[in-house]
Amino acid sequence: MKVIVVKDYDAVSKEAFAVMKEVVTNKKDAVLGLATGSSPIGLYKNMIQDHKDNGTSYAQCQSFNLDEYVGIDRNHPESYWTFMHENLFKGIDLPEDKIHVPYGSTKEDCEGYEKAMENVSVDVQVLGIGGNGHIGFNEPGTPFTEETHIVELTEKTRSDNARFFDNDINQVPTHAITMGIATIMKAKKILLVASGANKADAVAAMVNGPVDPACPASVLQNHADVVVVVDEAAAAKLAK
Ligand code: F6R
Repeated sequence: MKVIVVKDYDAVSKEAFAVMKEVVTNKKDAVLGLATGSSPIGLYKNMIQDHKDNGTSYAQCQSFNLDEYVGIDRNHPESYWTFMHENLFKGIDLPEDKIHVPYGSTKEDCEGYEKAMENVSVDVQVLGIGGNGHIGFNEPGTPFTEETHIVELTEKTRSDNARFFDNDINQVPTHAITMGIATIMKAKKILLVASGANKADAVAAMVNGPVDPACPASVLQNHADVVVVVDEAAAAKLAK
């Protein structure tokens, strides 16, 4: 695990972008694993700016997102489908038919998403980390062997995400469809970004703690190519 500590969110975004740019420069048809949430927004802004300024093209790429809420329409303003279009896809040239965001609530929907990924290998998987150590929506206790599956969201994750739903936890969906940890671990490279003091415990558990489902992100210690980019506040509890 390579851990890069930088000053603040802007620096995290720039550093993460440098990793992403290297991947897409070296492989025109790179497969991008993407995440939603506040953490990668700055990375996506850098990708959009660079596409505009330098013409970096995603025309031959394809993308697979980590997760999506269950029970809200794709066009809902807070769906992850909408989030990705607003924060990245509308600003780059990734073709619409190369975009994959999981959707649905059944076992067949989960198997269908795995099938779509069957013949591809994700070149770089972008991840954020939950305050409880989750990656994707794999909450603490999720077996590392899980592939795409439906999860019930914890109270903590729902309250963390209530800020996107008028600060009303009752509007936050109770379930989500998510790539499993086994799915995530298949990516060739993992790029995890985190910032802010509220991530400090999770980041320390991921990097310095035991590899244990109690902190799902700790599984990344077993992956051969992980870059963790954190700001000083998120790095505050890392072992020196
Ligand atoms: C998003 C996702 C989540 C987030 C995590 C951190 O697709 O899978 O695991 O990465 O909840 O969210 P933020 O970045 O909003 O703090």
